[in-house]
Amino acid sequence: MKGSFISFEGIDGCGKSTQIDLLAKYFTTQNKNFVKTEEPGGTLGSNEIRKILLRENNFQWSVETETLLFMAARNDHVEKVIKPAIEDNKIVICDRFMDSTIVYQGMRSPQARKLGLMLFEQIGINPDITFLIDMDPEVALNRALNRANNEDRFENYGINFQYQLRKNFLNIAHQHSERIKIIDGNRSKENVAAQIIESINNIDL
Ligand code: TMP
Repeated sequence: MKGSFISFEGIDGCGKSTQIDLLAKYFTTQNKNFVKTEEPGGTLGSNEIRKILLRENNFQWSVETETLLFMAARNDHVEKVIKPAIEDNKIVICDRFMDSTIVYQGMRSPQARKLGLMLFEQIGINPDITFLIDMDPEVALNRALNRANNEDRFENYGINFQYQLRKNFLNIAHQHSERIKIIDGNRSKENVAAQIIESINNIDL
């Protein structure tokens, strides 16, 4: 028996972290063995890359180079955290994964998209299920900007960027409807969590 891999995606401020915490609580009550992690991050090395990538006003790289950095962070994370946990029969809950690269970098450059996909083939692991928390970009952006941190690089691109992100996330969700479940995030956090738990129980992780 092998573990499983759940990812959460969505625009900045869509409520992913809250939902991940609620799912982790649920798994705890069910005595499930799980690991909660995030991208970019999850390992020392990936967190180093995260710091430079998400720093405000960091515009020193092309979108293609930025993609290589996100992929480097992902490779370290997959090698050291995700694959070992799955092999150890655990459930991995990951805040963002490859869909974020396809959307955040891919929508800005076809070349970056191609590069990302090429490297992703070598990484060779995909979530069993992905929850896309779909949310009104205006509400989500306000929420994201009200969080006090130094990671506002993408939030600072403004509201039109968030609308574009939402459109691109929905497009890939429709292209991969067998894996990506669109969850209406414009509801109470309890309602959203209940729908996520129901989907998880349906696939019997
Ligand atoms: P977070 O705020 O959800 O932790 O995500 C960090 C930011 O990094 C968010 O604005 C999305 C962005 N990002 C990318 O641009 N490409 C990626 O591949 C990943 C994983 C995140």
